Amino acid sequence: MRLILLGPPGAGKGTQAVNIVKKYSIPHISTGDMFRKNIKEGTDLGIKAKEYMDKGLLVPDDLVVAIVKDRLTEKDCQKGFLLDGFPRTVNQADALDAELTSLDYELDYVINIDVSKEELVDRAVGRRVCKDCGATYHVKFNPSKVEKICDVCGGELIQRKDDTVETVTKRIEVYLEQTQPLIDYYGKKEILINIDGKQDIDKVFQDIVIALGRE
Ligand code: AP5
Ligand code: MG
Repeated sequence: MRLILLGPPGAGKGTQAVNIVKKYSIPHISTGDMFRKNIKEGTDLGIKAKEYMDKGLLVPDDLVVAIVKDRLTEKDCQKGFLLDGFPRTVNQADALDAELTSLDYELDYVINIDVSKEELVDRAVGRRVCKDCGATYHVKFNPSKVEKICDVCGGELIQRKDDTVETVTKRIEVYLEQTQPLIDYYGKKEILINIDGKQDIDKVFQDIVIALGRE
């Protein structure tokens, strides 16, 4: 299965990705996670990406496309993959198309998770992530069993630097301008699946599985 997860910041892409990759046994490729890993390790790429991420802006296309291209040539992608947060611009989508053609891969579906703007800010601001394993929680909607401690690995839960009201608002604005056009882009290719992301986490996942099974 070759999939893309599309949706605004805080829509639940990362949350759903965990279950999707488990069910279909495919690698999870999140450009946001890749950048955060590079920032943590202090690489040149991380230093460059941080400049944009902290402001809620998109990292330039050439940097993003290069890391995804590299990742897609790895062996584990032969059995399929789930792209989370990529592509985010029409340029990136065109570059992905070209790369997939050269690898002789075809996309199966693009899953678009739809959530209203008001709810997105609440979701992102209340999000907590594990410093060690990256597991995602929400203080109200999906709390850990013990406050500030990861259920999975016992690591400390922290808030992402770009999860302030101001930065999230900027990220949503950027999404509407630069990423939302991809809904049409993939709609025209007839591989778009729209999912109501306002439901419970489990119900959203159930709808995704049903849609993938039916298509
Ligand atoms: P990235 O890390 O991809 O951030 P994002 O797209 O803004 O999305 P988020 O990770 O914030 O949200 P999500 O949809 O994964 O939601 P989650 O499941 O965590 O990118 C960060 C930055 O990196 C970008 O701003 C950009 O600078 C750069 N970047 C990355 N990719 C790039 C690209 N391709 N091009 C250029 N730049 C790029 O859920 C959110 C919260 O809601 C959690 O607390 C969760 O527990 C809760 N929640 C989830 N589902 C539900 C539900 N159904 N009901 C209630 N709560 C829920
Ligand atoms: Mg995410």
